[in-house]
Amino acid sequence: AYCIKGTFVHATDSSPIEILQNHIMGVNSKGKIEFLEHAREQLKLAKKWRFSESDIRELGSHEFCMPGMVDTHIHAPQYSFSGTALDLPLLEWLDKYTFPTEKKYKEVDFAKNIYTSIVRRTLRNGTTTACYFATIYTDSSLLLAEIAHNYGQRAFVGKVCMDINNFVPNYKETTDESIAETERFVKTFLERKYCRVKPIITPRFAVSCSEKLLQELGELAIIHGTHIQSHISEADGEINLVKTLFPNYKNYTDVYDKNKLLTDKTVMAHGCYLSDEELAIFRERGAAISHCPNSNISLCSGHLDVRKVLEHKVKLGLGTDVAGGYSPSMLDAFRRTMDMSKVLYIQHELGQKIDCSSLYSPRGNQQTMPASKALPNKKEKYTALTYKEAFRLATLGGSQALNIDDVTGNFQVGKEFDAILVSPCVPDGPLDVFADDTVEDIVQKFLYLGDDRNIKEVYVAGKQVVPLPNA
Ligand code: GUN
Ligand code: FE
Repeated sequence: AYCIKGTFVHATDSSPIEILQNHIMGVNSKGKIEFLEHAREQLKLAKKWRFSESDIRELGSHEFCMPGMVDTHIHAPQYSFSGTALDLPLLEWLDKYTFPTEKKYKEVDFAKNIYTSIVRRTLRNGTTTACYFATIYTDSSLLLAEIAHNYGQRAFVGKVCMDINNFVPNYKETTDESIAETERFVKTFLERKYCRVKPIITPRFAVSCSEKLLQELGELAIIHGTHIQSHISEADGEINLVKTLFPNYKNYTDVYDKNKLLTDKTVMAHGCYLSDEELAIFRERGAAISHCPNSNISLCSGHLDVRKVLEHKVKLGLGTDVAGGYSPSMLDAFRRTMDMSKVLYIQHELGQKIDCSSLYSPRGNQQTMPASKALPNKKEKYTALTYKEAFRLATLGGSQALNIDDVTGNFQVGKEFDAILVSPCVPDGPLDVFADDTVEDIVQKFLYLGDDRNIKEVYVAGKQVVPLPNA
């Protein structure tokens, strides 16, 4: 048990950023937040919570604690080529770079090095919870879980399921293998009794799964009460394939929904092209979307209108989607989210100022694409996200998307202490603080300019996990 005194910054349902200065937080021996109160009555607090002056750790000037960030979508095996291979659209990218790389993870020794690197890298960048895709290989996927556990990261780990692969035919399973191996994966996982690392059922996406496989995975998720993750409506080539492969379904969402894969423990990556009708189903099921802006831009997939998703009251978190997204850092996901939202705002404003219907329709033929369809409604106001909203999405939003907001996501009393200690002023660091900066300015500077040099310590469930042990 320990106490921290200083500035705490977090999101709540009612406020996207709440800044609590001169507060004392008590963390109990179970790693849970016991109290968080103003320090003005320190003596009274000390008596009530039975701590003494010497139990208190006081943060340095400008330092603050914020909740650890939640990466709701990341492919651990793809880390080996992150920062490269961003020159093709999704399906070609999977074919040329991704599947051949993931095939190598049949070798557990090969996997170990890269899985260790990604867990260390994300932790160092303040990701206290990560929702991982592994590969189709059960044993190396179990190893990823073991590594996350050993480093103390909170995680979901999914053994990827795919019984169709027309691109790299030897990177797939038979339907029966995929089901049996998923069962073995979940069972072995549960026997290991990790506290904070959980299995997640992972059909790669509708394109790579037969109807039977989807159906069986839906059943398995019910039997074991597990979480579910996949991809949805990311890019147009993919969406067209789904239409051809699943002609009897109403839309992409219906493919997952009818097979019981849309639950309140489901997180689906991307959703760029989901219709209002589909978003309404997400809302009804309590299923969440993982917004991965770096990936959407890097693979030229499309864009998600986060404002629209929030208005539909669909749960939403942010994801790096390494390696479709090139950065493993959630600070990058925060920044891309802001950029993307502002681009949508610019488009909307442009639509209001000039009649660019000819711009949007091929060869200026307005009949093939009416301006009213191509452009946002001129009378509607579009509000870009504020940085505070994006901060909430990177923390509390992610925990809600993964349905773990009863345990983590902010500093509500009773939750586990998942946090990063931010030190804005480090020698030769990435940002400068000046005399007239407010605390809010400093927080904002960290979010936009900071990096792992400013993340001095990281805690998961009260336990310090960064600085990392030597590799
Ligand atoms: N859709 C199916 N597999 C993948 C993947 O590995 N990355 C992304 N971004 N989309 C996918
Ligand atoms: Fe992905």
